[in-house]
Amino acid sequence: MSKNPETIVGLDIGTTKICTVVGEVRENGITIIGCGLQPSRGIKKGVIINMDSTVESIKKAVEEAEKSVGFNIKTVVTGIAGSHIKGFNSNGVIPIKDKEVKKGDIRRAMDAAKSVVIPMDREVIHILPQEFVVDDQDGIKDPLGLSGGRLEARVHIVTGSVTSAQNIIRCTNRTGLNVQDIVLQPLASGESVLTEDEKELGVMLIDIGGGTTDIAIFSKGSIRYTAVLPLGGDHITSDIAIGMRSPLSAAEDIKRQYGCALTSMVDSKETIDVPTIGENKPRPIARKMLCQIIQPRMEEMLTLMQKELLKSGFKEFLSAGAVITGGTALLKGIVELAEQVLHLPVRVGYPQGVGGLTDAMNNPMYATGVGLVLFGRRAKTNGVNGGGGKHAMSKLGQKVKQWFEEVL
Ligand SMILES: Nc1ncnc2c1ncn2[C@@H]1O[C@H](COP(=O)(O)OP(=O)(O)OP(=O)(O)O)[C@@H](O)[C@H]1O
Ligand SMILES: [Mg+2]
Repeated sequence: MSKNPETIVGLDIGTTKICTVVGEVRENGITIIGCGLQPSRGIKKGVIINMDSTVESIKKAVEEAEKSVGFNIKTVVTGIAGSHIKGFNSNGVIPIKDKEVKKGDIRRAMDAAKSVVIPMDREVIHILPQEFVVDDQDGIKDPLGLSGGRLEARVHIVTGSVTSAQNIIRCTNRTGLNVQDIVLQPLASGESVLTEDEKELGVMLIDIGGGTTDIAIFSKGSIRYTAVLPLGGDHITSDIAIGMRSPLSAAEDIKRQYGCALTSMVDSKETIDVPTIGENKPRPIARKMLCQIIQPRMEEMLTLMQKELLKSGFKEFLSAGAVITGGTALLKGIVELAEQVLHLPVRVGYPQGVGGLTDAMNNPMYATGVGLVLFGRRAKTNGVNGGGGKHAMSKLGQKVKQWFEEVL
């Protein structure tokens, strides 16, 4: 059976899991009709380090989704992350030809904003429009038809290493899939967990996965800052395994069941049974001790996020606070600790804005997968990548096509 043309598939290639989310475009929006979830092999800190293992994991996650929907998946929207990602703001200024802004003027201002020198080993992933300025009036979303002499376009440009983007496309192509688009993971997560009001008021989106922490800062409805840190929940798991001399799988279970980011929230008398390497029987350990391992690591991670926040210059403009998503958002006490470190109101972000398998998808670890579907839908409707990245799309689009042809 051929793929329903009205479906959009998100493929989230994460450090710990690969998930495929199948969305169907209906009159009232996107309905999730199927998904596939498999452990991820071959990814480290958000970047592919073993092609064969990654291809196998993608295959399994896609096959599982295909079984759930009953048709073959051909095209996916996939994400990109890793510490190679760099985001920066750029602007372009032009004189308005006929003293009234025409489409051509907007295009020329955008072209001027995009014309920055990018090193050969880097690829443009997104060019995201922030606002236009006509003469001295800033904060304009659509300047078409306005009178003035000078037009300025402000954009946020995201670049990543060419090889990382290539590897994502090659791996996906090797499973027989075509890549419709590559989206920065925190942008995808933001698409599914943030409200338009939050983006307007100013919000910091933090996706803490297994191997990376992805940050995106929005203000006045536009993206202002992006960053990817090579730290995630797996660092907490390995700290627990080392600190308690327990196998990694047991450390992961203990973290999920008893872990808490704030030691003061845990009763001093409570004990837990911890399996220990070299011992037959689990040892009873104070739960507080477990939290004393978790809290400093989580504090360290949040302090790095706080540094990014200060670097962005938007600390004072985040009236909507911070939204934490990704699997690690489920760690108990994370909201309380994050509020202390970031000095912002914090909430946990669950994927929203879709119908269908809402119970199954009601977990922060699906924020990117669901967001990829929503982003893919928007890009298709607008005909652009991220609402303005025609240049990025054509460049990347050519490569996608070229690489796809290579493997066939
Ligand atoms: N209940 C829980 N409590 C604490 N941590 C949890 C819980 N559930 C999942 N996690 C952690 O969430 C992390 C996985 O999150 P997620 O699925 O968002 O990551 P990923 O997308 O695979 O990785 P990345 O985005 O970093 O490449 C793991 O470190 C896991 O231990
Ligand atoms: Mg992730």
